[in-house]
Amino acid sequence: MRKILVLHGPNLNLLGSREPGHYGHSTLAEIDQTLRNRVANLPADTAGKIEIEIFQSNAESALIDRIQAAPLAGVGFIVINPAGFTHTSVAIRDSIAAVAIPFIEVHLSNIHARETFRKHSYFSDLAVGVISGLGAQGYEFAIDAAIRTIRLTIAQNTSTTQNSNTLNPKSAVISAAPSSNQHKN
Ligand code: DQA
Repeated sequence: MRKILVLHGPNLNLLGSREPGHYGHSTLAEIDQTLRNRVANLPADTAGKIEIEIFQSNAESALIDRIQAAPLAGVGFIVINPAGFTHTSVAIRDSIAAVAIPFIEVHLSNIHARETFRKHSYFSDLAVGVISGLGAQGYEFAIDAAIRTIRLTIAQNTSTTQNSNTLNPKSAVISAAPSSNQHKN
């Protein structure tokens, strides 16, 4: 079972009522439910093989703790909206670099079309991709990309296992050759 970890940073718990001109009208609960539904309706080849875990916190340390715990929790992909920490947190950046799990950075608003201080992100250069300005839909695109990546990994692992199973008998034959040569000599 591979896990997708969705992390929401500070003040995103207020979505729905928080500056709807920037962040839209969807609540965080509604966004999360859409993401859970997407994972619940996976294609047959991956059904039951991908899990989603969602966590929101206003605290930098709590987000770091979740990221540090991710490898042991079986997380294969992270979707993160670091919110205000996008522009300030070397510490969250360091934790996501440390675990080396691929991630997509999501912003509801277009951070490049807003105040100058929002244009810099401590995450974008490490991210697989950045989605900014597409509202709640941005999370859906990110989850779809995460699912696609995990499906590919599962398919590759399956074909590697199949190949190594079919290669084993052959390697037994090859390793037998030198001894039969020795026998001839
Ligand atoms: C945000 C953009 C950030 O600049 C801001 O601090 C947020 C939300 C977004 O989703 O658009 O809290 O990450």
